Amino acid sequence: MAAPHVLVFPFPIQGHINCLLNFANALVDAGVHVTFLHTEHNLRRVASGAGSPHLRFLSVPDGLPDDHPRTAAYLPDLYKSLAAGTRGPFRDLLARSSSLVADAAGVDEPTGDFPPVTCLVADGLLGWAVEVADELGVPAIVMRTASACSLLAFLSVPKLFELGELPFPVGGDLDEPVRGVPGMETILRRRDLPSHCRRPNATYEVNPGLHALAKLSADSSKARALVLNTTPTLERTALEHIAPRVRDLFAIGPLHAMSSTAASSSLLREDGGCMAWLDAQAADRSVVYASLGSLATITREQFAELFAGLVATGYPFLWVLRPDMVADAAALEDEAVREAGGGGGSSKACVVAWAPQREVLRHRAVGCFLTHAGWNSTLEAIVDGVPTVCWPSSADQQMNSRFVGAVWRTGLDMKDVCDRAVVERTVKEAMESTEIRGAAQAMAEQVKRDVAAGGSSATELQRLVGLIRELSA
Ligand code: UDX
Repeated sequence: MAAPHVLVFPFPIQGHINCLLNFANALVDAGVHVTFLHTEHNLRRVASGAGSPHLRFLSVPDGLPDDHPRTAAYLPDLYKSLAAGTRGPFRDLLARSSSLVADAAGVDEPTGDFPPVTCLVADGLLGWAVEVADELGVPAIVMRTASACSLLAFLSVPKLFELGELPFPVGGDLDEPVRGVPGMETILRRRDLPSHCRRPNATYEVNPGLHALAKLSADSSKARALVLNTTPTLERTALEHIAPRVRDLFAIGPLHAMSSTAASSSLLREDGGCMAWLDAQAADRSVVYASLGSLATITREQFAELFAGLVATGYPFLWVLRPDMVADAAALEDEAVREAGGGGGSSKACVVAWAPQREVLRHRAVGCFLTHAGWNSTLEAIVDGVPTVCWPSSADQQMNSRFVGAVWRTGLDMKDVCDRAVVERTVKEAMESTEIRGAAQAMAEQVKRDVAAGGSSATELQRLVGLIRELSA
């Protein structure tokens, strides 16, 4: 039997890289060789590029010019250039690295101690990579980095059109309940569906974003297996409704809690100074951590409301202000820190461009997390039992924040409102409510059992490794 060696290929943006690298580390811990495929641009930036005896990092070009900004606003460029410009180099790399093709074509496997690649695990946004693997006869598994509930919503898009739930009527009430996402009829309102659903009067055909994501979701379900970073504790109903639509479903998560390897995969430099600032906070659970992930952008008005709301709570706060998050971020930062009550050393506020988020959430001083409800951030808060206030920005985040506020009750959903009074009220409630903290801590205990030996995620990981070994035979 060939030694299993998986080529793991994330869509090259932060949230996807983190999820797939956590998955790669879990496979390595289970004795599988992994080649992790970055783009050349990202490999130059990440700190995780050194590898280990079972994990190596290779790269392919992303097809964009070196000086391309590659920020959130340009995601469609990246998406297109990968499909067009990366497909060829990826095909060459997979052909050279994989046993099947190496045997057939007499090509030597190129690198040192690593056995030939026997299986591809591709990000669900890279449907073309799965096509390439199919052409070369390499078994392919798909990983989706977002929540199961959002995947189920995308799989339900044709049904939502059939039932007349989509498109939303112009001026329609976003609080209307939505039928058509199975098992979620009593939970979902229009405003909770993925943001791509929000184009009033846009039919399926004239809503390209929604169309593309619904198609990618349907295609993901055709792969040999589909892996989701979740657990039945969080999303049992969604998983039960997805399972019959796919060939084999694995719920393995939260992945960041499943490996002892802690290598950073940050594309931006982490500002460790905020950890000293947290250490200096005398009281436990006294600080609000605010971060909107790696992609969300906000207007200056939204920034002003969020910031004023945080100041009004009276709690000290740690705020991640990425340089590309709001126009003229540097000037705003100076102004904001002054307003919050001091200079850079202010005890009231600490502003950084990028934080070591997982360490921050584990810190005793952190009492709640104001988040955009990206799936990684949501899971990271859940594992550490930190209550969240969600202000979702786009895509799956509308669904995630609904689950936080209405299903798990581990936080509050501030969806669609960005008003200083609401920020102040919800943050205070998340900091002070014993019910919310109790629910967050109980959930943390349960998901930690899921990832521990014998738990559902640990057992599913073993089953997946068994499948990978079988496919490698
Ligand atoms: C996006 C989507 O929002 C998400 O739902 C999808 O599953 C993946 O792509 P993003 O918007 O960046 O990702 O949010 P999130 O999923 O929360 O990922 C952000 C990651 O960056 C987290 O792992 C977080 O720990 C990390 N991070 C964020 C930092 O390390 N430092 C920071 O300062 C902010």
